[in-house]
Amino acid sequence: MTKKRVLTGITTTGTPHLGNYIGAIRPAIAASKADNVESFLFLADLHAIVKCHQPDMVHQSSKEIAATWLALGLDTERSTFYRQSDVPEISELTWILTCLTAKGLMNRSHAYKAAVASNVEEGEDPDNAVTMGLYSYPVLMAADILMFKANDVPVGKDQIQHVEMARDIAGRFNHRFGDVFVLPEAKVGGDGAVLNGLDGRKMSKSYGNTIPLFLPEKQLKKHINKIKTNLLEPGEAKDPGDSTVFQIWTAFASEEQTQTMREEFANGIAWGEAKKRLLELVNEELCEARERYLELMADPVSVEKVLLEGAEKARNHSRPLIKQVREAIGIRALSL
Ligand code: TRP
Repeated sequence: MTKKRVLTGITTTGTPHLGNYIGAIRPAIAASKADNVESFLFLADLHAIVKCHQPDMVHQSSKEIAATWLALGLDTERSTFYRQSDVPEISELTWILTCLTAKGLMNRSHAYKAAVASNVEEGEDPDNAVTMGLYSYPVLMAADILMFKANDVPVGKDQIQHVEMARDIAGRFNHRFGDVFVLPEAKVGGDGAVLNGLDGRKMSKSYGNTIPLFLPEKQLKKHINKIKTNLLEPGEAKDPGDSTVFQIWTAFASEEQTQTMREEFANGIAWGEAKKRLLELVNEELCEARERYLELMADPVSVEKVLLEGAEKARNHSRPLIKQVREAIGIRALSL
């Protein structure tokens, strides 16, 4: 059976939150268990430094994200779990691909265009605070993907364009130098839902409306109590369709539990009571993993070891690939 290669990167800025868990981490861990899938998951720390120039934050976030995935039961025997910066071939491939990538393609990148548009709006120089890292970010991402011949790349909507750019770049290389790369496909949405945050907008670090994944129970309770609701009193019927409490409930509940809560809403459950039950439900799903998370955070030496073993596995793919690429482009021993 040929297995499908599924690859995704997690940028190491910030602390994992419930939105990351529901939208990306839980479905990725579930998918990594399928027999017909070979999954590559990595900490994108070279991507983190594009925007984050706070060393302690990049470092802390790498530790938290690694501990999170391990605590949630990612099987590192089955899947390849590594830190991008531990695979130097990715950086080398990035340069080689940079030399093939049309500047015009990068000009069209949404992330870059958004930065320019916001500068112009503020009357700044268009390229104010735009680094070459931000500008050529999609090339690094292409190297991440192409290095491991990924077929499917599960990403959020905002990243579709980057995966398409990787496809373009791969096509261009293959056309010029022979078939080396597999053309990847973006897989959007998948099983993961988009979770709303405390204020009802999409849960996102940039909105400051997140519920961190492994908060101690007391803190989790405080956060859940802060979820915005309307002013309907106990006994008044509530609309599940516009409720963040209900939306998060659905993400954690069985179908039966969702149905029950739907009825409770119709019967006018008090917001306080709905939140209390939500806390119990979320806590039940996360409490064991939270224990493991705390243990792992207290033992960075073993997490580091897991990452380095992962990097060795990854390099079993990246070393031969980079050799093939070098030969294809004419960088090889003079005697060959
Ligand atoms: N840029 C992605 C994000 O911000 C993270 C990422 C880096 C990635 N390299 C990748 C995702 C390769 C998928 C494949 O979400």
